[in-house]
Amino acid sequence: MAVERTLSIIKPDATKRNLTGKINAKFEDAGLRIIAQKRVQLTMEQAGTFYEVHKERPFYGELCEFMVSEPVVLQVLEGEGAILKNREVMGATNPADAAPGTIRADFALSVGENSVHGSDAPETAAAEIAYFFAGLELVG
Ligand code: CDP
Ligand code: MG
Repeated sequence: MAVERTLSIIKPDATKRNLTGKINAKFEDAGLRIIAQKRVQLTMEQAGTFYEVHKERPFYGELCEFMVSEPVVLQVLEGEGAILKNREVMGATNPADAAPGTIRADFALSVGENSVHGSDAPETAAAEIAYFFAGLELVG
């Protein structure tokens, strides 16, 4: 399997509860390397553009408000099959459906406040990484 890179975001519900280290441990235990990481306060414009694909969904406004409510930690994870592997480590979108031991099963509060974002395909991973990081910030 090829070495891939994927964008991860530790969301406001998790940064607020001081869970960054515990979440990072799950990535590292799964063999994902954190090759870039920065804690930022997103603007409404950044959150809205990042989640533009969900613009027509009923939860879009609430999702954007949530994403700017506290700082987030933006990350690039690298590893063999990193995109799918990260989705496995994250668990299902709704924590009620997430497998035991996944980040969302252990930490998420609700389907909206679900602790992490992860890219879902190679094309979205490349676009999402480029949206938040300059090439020089990725140190593999
Ligand atoms: O994050 P993931 O790729 O698993 O799910 P998504 O379907 O791409 O949705 C993006 C985000 O929107 C989720 O992670 C939730 O934070 C939020 N969402 C929500 O608030 N209510 C839903 N019914 C579905 C998603
Ligand atoms: Mg998604």
